[in-house]
Amino acid sequence: MSKPIQAVRGMNDVLPEESPRWQFFHDTARGWLQLYGYREIKLPLLEKSELFSRSIGQATDIVSKEMYTFEDTLSGESLTLRPEGTASCVRAVIEHNLLYSQPHRLYYEGPMFRHERPQKGRYRQFHQIGVEAFGFVGPDIDAEHMVMCARLWKELGLSGLKLELNSLGDAESRARHRGKLVEHLRKNYDALDDDSKRRLELNPLRVLDSKNPALSPIIASAPRLIDELDPESREHFEHVQTLLTDRGVDFEIVPRLVRGLDYYNRTVYEWVSDALGAQATVCAGGRYDRLVAELGGKPAPACGFALGVERVLTLMKDAEAKPAGVYLAHHGENTDRYAFKIAEMLRDAKIAVVFDASGGSFKSQMKRADASSARFALLIGEDETRGGVVSLKPLREAGEQIAAPIEDIIARIKMEEES
Ligand code: HAM
Repeated sequence: MSKPIQAVRGMNDVLPEESPRWQFFHDTARGWLQLYGYREIKLPLLEKSELFSRSIGQATDIVSKEMYTFEDTLSGESLTLRPEGTASCVRAVIEHNLLYSQPHRLYYEGPMFRHERPQKGRYRQFHQIGVEAFGFVGPDIDAEHMVMCARLWKELGLSGLKLELNSLGDAESRARHRGKLVEHLRKNYDALDDDSKRRLELNPLRVLDSKNPALSPIIASAPRLIDELDPESREHFEHVQTLLTDRGVDFEIVPRLVRGLDYYNRTVYEWVSDALGAQATVCAGGRYDRLVAELGGKPAPACGFALGVERVLTLMKDAEAKPAGVYLAHHGENTDRYAFKIAEMLRDAKIAVVFDASGGSFKSQMKRADASSARFALLIGEDETRGGVVSLKPLREAGEQIAAPIEDIIARIKMEEES
């Protein structure tokens, strides 16, 4: 026998047992997005590599070492499997002129790809739901996003998620802060690790994002960007906080929160959980008012966030599949045509049917019925076929088996499923 082929490391299958949780999550999320007026945009998984280097930033971990990039054999173009969705969404909005006449509230969902070291909660193919709002300048949209997340956690029954919030101000505030930060880091140069020495040259703000505990005293004593905010950014940030407080959404201001992508300005935030180990961030985002213009569009303010679906699912209590529908067992001479017809009649009535296509005795078919997620078994033998009836047996609760014409059985199943 030849050796079986395994999946690529860090890229997971979602098996049927896990699907109910994914489906429950996506159904809840779609209802929630609709409640806030967000409309879906479907984006390709492959983009030109330049899109990501120009938006996420050349010096970031994502662009410098985590992208799946290859040369298209026909065109010679450099292409990349998307590591995130914001850049693609901005590209699409510019390309299709969506911002010409009105603002937009958009969302997308699907897989993203990053060549990171796989561990619990960190995968090379993972899924996001991303939300982006274009054309809104005020702090209300920033707050809407965070309030919206708080509502989703509640709907999913998640607790213990904390909101960490910061403001990166405008370009001048960051330049002012950068000067002071570089001076501080240079003073402590010998104590920095190699990664931070490299970041000091390329993007000193990212040193603040270091997870190395040895650097915490240097980071704690570093000049804070939040103390350098320009007056408009400060006012914007204060209003975001007021709206969150009004809505009872707790947050903590975390001055070292800078995010790992370069496109942000003003509000940035992360929702974190203690229950996830090292990969604690469930959802993250912020404002990126310059990106549309930087990617060649007419300037438009923007902000958004993305949640990591796998991480949210880890926090969700197991959503078991609720038993529903019927398992149709049939046995005996000439029963299959009648059983096949009954199955389609049930589906006409919008009742889910798993038709036993493996055969064997009623006993072995009933074993399969028990192992399925059906709530009822329908049995069709020679007697039922001759008499034009079907037999219904509850699988998950006590109750007698009854035989009746299919119309009565349909009415009975519907009544029970609705109660
Ligand atoms: P991000 O912080 O890179 O932001 O990713 C958002 C979320 O995706 C993370 O908080 C995490 O839950 C999940 N995630 C990221 N990498 C992995 C991984 N390797 N395995 C599993 N989950 C992961 C963005 O992607 C921005 N586009 C968010 C945004 C939208 N900002 C504005 N609009």
